[in-house]
Amino acid sequence: MKKSSWILFLAALFSGFGLPAAAQEAAPRTFEVQHVRQVCYPYLQHVTETSFTVIWTTNIDALSWVEVAPDDGTHFYNCERPKYYDLRGLGRRPIGRVHKVTVSGLEPGTTYRYRIMMQGVLDQDNRRSIVYGEGYGLDLRKHPTKVTTKRAAYDKLEFAVVNDMHEHDSVLRADFKDAKGKYDFVVFNGDMTSAIDHEEDVVKHYLSSAGELFASDTPLYIVRGNHEYRGNDALKWYDYMDTPTGKTYYAFRYGGFFFIALDSGEDKPDSDIRNLGVMAVEPYVREEAAWLKEVVASEAFRTADARIVFSHMSPNPKGWHGDRMVAELFVPTLNEAGIDLMLCAHHHVHRIEPAGTTNAAFPVVINDNQTLLECTLDRKEARLRFHDDAQKVWKTVSYPVGTFKKKQ
Ligand SMILES: [Fe+2]
Repeated sequence: MKKSSWILFLAALFSGFGLPAAAQEAAPRTFEVQHVRQVCYPYLQHVTETSFTVIWTTNIDALSWVEVAPDDGTHFYNCERPKYYDLRGLGRRPIGRVHKVTVSGLEPGTTYRYRIMMQGVLDQDNRRSIVYGEGYGLDLRKHPTKVTTKRAAYDKLEFAVVNDMHEHDSVLRADFKDAKGKYDFVVFNGDMTSAIDHEEDVVKHYLSSAGELFASDTPLYIVRGNHEYRGNDALKWYDYMDTPTGKTYYAFRYGGFFFIALDSGEDKPDSDIRNLGVMAVEPYVREEAAWLKEVVASEAFRTADARIVFSHMSPNPKGWHGDRMVAELFVPTLNEAGIDLMLCAHHHVHRIEPAGTTNAAFPVVINDNQTLLECTLDRKEARLRFHDDAQKVWKTVSYPVGTFKKKQ
């Protein structure tokens, strides 16, 4: 349909109801009628035993909500389903294009169907009026969306990691073309885009494909890379995530399997000319280092069966500033507490650094920028499989887990 054929509508309908004369004389408001649709398919964040968060984006401003139904074979329209709203407005529903809704009060280890819902907003005039367009809900016949809350215990996990895709959405799509329902979770270990010049980039470059291919049903853990510090819209990045800490570093667990996702910062010192005077990474990662000490003192960490750390940059006391910061700020804490494995990225080449290669007393596996890394984790070992984008395994390696128990 031609743009010119869209209806241009006068909102002057709303004038004249007790408004002051000045308001009545204001210029009529115009707006374009558009149909609201999702741009970024929904993707799961911060799934717990009783809750989950789902994020998606829309083509125009909208109000949003999520409806949830049990996975019991009933039609979604069988009855009115409970509605959950975006509470980031602290009681007022946000009108925007990025939607983040947390659903809570669920049962552990239970599968639910959910449906993202949106009501287009065509115009808003402060206290006077909001003009709504049509409402729309994701078509569940074409794109059924389900979430399974975490159980209290797991015997085995399957997860996948990619990193440094730097906008190569086609590689991501090849890696995950059959991934729906395949993994317990997926990790994007940083630098999935080269910069966040415009916030739409993160959707276009990887999040929409993730939501379409697997992350509507599979929890996605996003680790910050150094490139995600860059660009005019870099500060909006957290709008597209939800983490247990509300920060870009966090920990999560599946039963006795404990994971830490570090924010390893920028690769150059804050004062470097290319950092444009806007970085305060060092105080941020020092704050993170204090948080890490609290994490390793926690009951969940101390009693874990396996401990794996994700960090975009790898530790190296003699490397770039970012690598050195990881080595100096995080590694001593991790060495003392004991972890099984650190999974890193950033260098765009595959490299395995056995314990003691750097100051890390644990193995560090650096994944390249093309490889899909799959891991099967149980209480005995972490079995890593490295795939090319044709899904062929070109290397496997295993690491024992629970090694830290000998030290305790
Ligand atoms: Fe990087």
